[in-house]
Amino acid sequence: MVVIVPAAGSGERLGAGVPKAMAPLAGEPILAHAVRALVAEPRVGLVVLAAPEGLEDDMAAAAAANADGVPVVAVTGGATRVESVASALSVVPDGFGVVLVHDAARCLVPVPVVSAVIDAVLTGARAVVPGVPVVDTIRELEADGEGSRTVDRSRLRAVQTPQGFTLEVLRRAHASADPASTDDAGMVESLGVPVRLVAGDPRAFKVTTALDLVLAEALLSGEEA
Ligand code: CTP
Ligand code: MG
Repeated sequence: MVVIVPAAGSGERLGAGVPKAMAPLAGEPILAHAVRALVAEPRVGLVVLAAPEGLEDDMAAAAAANADGVPVVAVTGGATRVESVASALSVVPDGFGVVLVHDAARCLVPVPVVSAVIDAVLTGARAVVPGVPVVDTIRELEADGEGSRTVDRSRLRAVQTPQGFTLEVLRRAHASADPASTDDAGMVESLGVPVRLVAGDPRAFKVTTALDLVLAEALLSGEEA
């Protein structure tokens, strides 16, 4: 199957001075870790990454060096995540029945999460997302913007990637995309297609701020020990 890797964001909240996918983590770009994690699942046969304009070749090289022989293609991303995924999707060959979309920033995703998403699509789900229970107590603002009430969190899941789709459903979702969507499953849901949840993993967290980078470094040094 093919994995689309949106990596074209600027990483404003991380503030590394370079686009987040190229920010160093344990001496290597975040993107290198992400690609290594993905190709560790043997059914991944093509990586299509969306890079910031001007960094296509650098990112393709960083990805290919960690792709264990799996082919890598880089396209120019867009101003939003939706646009970046759409431009990657436009070069995916029709022969792939299943497509995964995985944020470069979730660079330490464990292989069993990738496998579970693929398995769920191969057993009939047209859209699959990994999710983890929400750890904080959640309150919802009342309409007045001041009052609030507790939400039952037992049925809530925080959504991760990779998300998995049939190529047909993802193409259809992007044909009528809301540009502000933060993930692909939400777009697919707007088509009326059910979205199956599988177990995610806390290690598939998204590197968003400097604190997340500290956590990622600590996890990697623990692996080495
Ligand atoms: N992304 C993308 N194209 C964009 C915006 C985001 O490909 N125009 C990608 C990012 O590179 C990242 C993933 O989407 O792998 C999730 O986005 P996020 O964590 O928000 O990354 P950034 O947008 O880079 O970070 P920030 O919002 O802090 O600027
Ligand atoms: Mg962003």
